Amino acid sequence: MGKRVYESLPDMAKARNRVDKPNLIKDEAKVSLRLASFAAGRHYLIKTFGCQANVRDEEIMAGYLEKAGFSKAESEESTDLVIINTCAVRENAEDKVYGEIGKFKANRRRDPQFILCVCGCMMQEEGVAKKISDSYPYVNLIFGTHNTHRLLDMLDEHLSRHKDIVNVLSHPGDIIEGMPSARLDNSSAYVNITYGCDKFCTYCIVPYTRGRERSRQKEDILSECRELVEQGYKQITLLGQNVNSYGKDFHDGTSFATILEEVAKLGIPRLRFMTSHPWDFSDEMLEVIAKYPNIMKCIHLPVQSGSTEVLKKMGRRYTREEYLDLVARIKKKIPGVFLTTDIIVGFPNETLEQFEETLSICEEVRYSSAFTFIYSPRKGTPAAKMKDDVPDEEKKARFMRLLKVVEETTNEASASLLGKTIPVLVDGPSKKDPNILSGYSEGSKLVNFPGPAYLKGEIVELKIIENHCHYLVGELLEDPILIKANGVKKALLEEPDVKEYLRLNKQIEENEEIKALQEKIGETQKKLVASLGDAKVKAEYESLREKLDSHPLIQNRESLREGVENLLKAVSGGLS
Ligand code: 5AD
Ligand code: SF4
Repeated sequence: MGKRVYESLPDMAKARNRVDKPNLIKDEAKVSLRLASFAAGRHYLIKTFGCQANVRDEEIMAGYLEKAGFSKAESEESTDLVIINTCAVRENAEDKVYGEIGKFKANRRRDPQFILCVCGCMMQEEGVAKKISDSYPYVNLIFGTHNTHRLLDMLDEHLSRHKDIVNVLSHPGDIIEGMPSARLDNSSAYVNITYGCDKFCTYCIVPYTRGRERSRQKEDILSECRELVEQGYKQITLLGQNVNSYGKDFHDGTSFATILEEVAKLGIPRLRFMTSHPWDFSDEMLEVIAKYPNIMKCIHLPVQSGSTEVLKKMGRRYTREEYLDLVARIKKKIPGVFLTTDIIVGFPNETLEQFEETLSICEEVRYSSAFTFIYSPRKGTPAAKMKDDVPDEEKKARFMRLLKVVEETTNEASASLLGKTIPVLVDGPSKKDPNILSGYSEGSKLVNFPGPAYLKGEIVELKIIENHCHYLVGELLEDPILIKANGVKKALLEEPDVKEYLRLNKQIEENEEIKALQEKIGETQKKLVASLGDAKVKAEYESLREKLDSHPLIQNRESLREGVENLLKAVSGGLS
């Protein structure tokens, strides 16, 4: 397409800004006629790198695109619009992005109207948007994390002005409600509760790429969760860079424990949350986690390092002892809890002794799994300016030693499930073999088992028969048809129309006036038969019937009949 317009480029100094009270914007997701006619019959593809926050952004961008009229593409070749949604947390995630952009040059060659967009955290780094714009002239739209909700406006601008646009904002960040969303899964859902991060750990780029820490209003979170429960979702994961900071910006005593408890009460079968920062993990939170059986007893608690000196340099706000004390409190309050973590190896000037403290903290806590990373300097962060005397080879060697320790405790946690019967939320057929299903245990352990694809989205009881450290093998204890039938019945009974139908039905059964009418109709019917269809009796019978049919309770129930019948038809449509 035409010339490139630079509307805005990121600025790391501005990205540090923190102000209270974010703007709350209600988006109307308007679609212009021009964009709607372009989108009709065209397909989109979004390629996401990085964490769950990016996955949720993908769902929201997909929601906007589907609202405009695009549909999801089946393959990279058959797509008319691609969005590459990037991650900036480590350098290797960034390297993959450049290769990915290169892949779509061929699409442009084939189709001059093909649209390529690059967005997300990496665009928020100084210099990156400009570099991509200069090196890949076929990229049409470059935007950041703060204007995802303006996707349709930007596409419209691109089409109307025949211009390629770069628009990356650096500001503390708003809260946008009312965004459409096309969820990637129909049993497990992410729900944002906070955006951004104010912790400024010295190695981390996130506070610069995602702005200030800001909490969504409780009612907005609850109505999103309520809708998911009504739609039959089995799992909700509350998302935030730091979920336990939730509500601090309201200055009214609202805390993460409050929202966690209120969501748990909605009755979602599985509730998770991530990520927790050890610094503000309260006892109140622990009480709530322990109290509700539907809150999974699995806590992701990034330690990053086992050395107090390194933690201090990282700006983590806790010592080794404080972290261990928190772990002890958690284990005491929630026996059998699964703890998972993130660890960084080779922070600038990390000594061998300090690294060994990381090994020993892992041995002590015995994580059921851990994400391990070699430190990656991020331009603009304080740690990137620190002199680093640890050679790369040494960092790799430490990383391998850490993997061994983590593997041992991961295996131990997996082995503890051998022979047990545990509930598993079925994710779907495995990529390698369609007859093998995969799912996750309460402690987030991957479990594979033979079973039919229609069990996707069900919570099934599995007997664990093999442990392969990073995954378990289980077997079904019940006939899958019966599991599905039960699941369908439960889901059907949860449907709002079915619930209302059954409620009205009960009221009708108990209503004295209706009971009397029905009795009278019965008697008149007998009289009618005995009188061989006497006209007077017939008129009396019909008037009674009319009275019954026009009773408000009966009318209300009948108005739901067609909808409920359609639901039943959809359910009996097959084991899809
Ligand atoms: N280098 C390596 N790992 C990092 N992480 C964040 N920033 C960096 C970095 N610069 C890791 C932390 C964090 C996880 C999401 O990514 O462990 O918890
Ligand atoms: Fe990054 Fe630290 Fe914030 Fe986590 S808490 S996102 S590691 S700055």
